[in-house]
Amino acid sequence: MQGETGKFLEMIESARRITVLTGAGMSTESGIPDFRSAGGIWTEDMSRMEAMSLDYFERFPKLFWPKFKELFQIKMTGSFQPNAGHLYLADLERKGKEVRVFTQNIDGLHNKAGSRHVYELHGSIQTAACPKCGTRYGLDHILQAEVPRCCRVNEKGRECGLILKTDVVLFGDAVQHFDTLFESLDQSDLLLVIGTSLEVAPVRFIPEEAHAIPGLKKMMINLDETPYDHLFDLVIHHKIAEFAKLING
Ligand code: APR
Repeated sequence: MQGETGKFLEMIESARRITVLTGAGMSTESGIPDFRSAGGIWTEDMSRMEAMSLDYFERFPKLFWPKFKELFQIKMTGSFQPNAGHLYLADLERKGKEVRVFTQNIDGLHNKAGSRHVYELHGSIQTAACPKCGTRYGLDHILQAEVPRCCRVNEKGRECGLILKTDVVLFGDAVQHFDTLFESLDQSDLLLVIGTSLEVAPVRFIPEEAHAIPGLKKMMINLDETPYDHLFDLVIHHKIAEFAKLING
């Protein structure tokens, strides 16, 4: 571990612009389960994936919302706290590094930790919008009714009443900020991947894309092995928050 830690710190020190890519493993030490580890959200019941699809929402919006709220423990969203891993990344910015965090997570913990350039590739659980008039609502409104609806009043004084669509990217939805991720990789000298199985497209293509960028160093901190470990200059199989505490001494 000693050698890995030394190499990690050396690569962080010599980097000026860092692109960070995170997944659910970033937040497990904050009490939020990941998807594919033992006890993960999909591991527990694969049929849940079908219910978290755009198709399912469009066909059964009234069934979608209670499942969505339960799966992502939406009532707890406000109580989850960033862990030492999130705080370490925010600290790198305070130390003058240029850090852009591209996260697959919808929990908002990177923002809560103080990271200032966060791109939510899979959207956010904090808001939902009316599919017709586009009016956006926050968690308070989303939590008020089991199935949140648009309460905008039109010119005839009638309430819109349409069922809102979550701002979380569902299966079948387009991933967000992906072009910005590629731009960031081109402008960075280090890619740091943390807490993701790299199972899901298009994120799974990032390691190979990054491998083709001359001069871009690549590090990964992930508890389990991934099929892309061999493409990285340094891979540390460790819990991120524990590791962050270790390097913070
Ligand atoms: N520290 C480091 N790595 C961890 C930790 C931890 N504390 N806990 C778990 N991990 C690792 C696991 O070993 C696993 O490889 O994080 C990875 C999490 O992988 P997934 O559960 O597949 O989550 P993720 O990669 O974010 O999934 C991507 O899939 O279903 C979609 O939309 C969902 O955003 C999600 C996407």
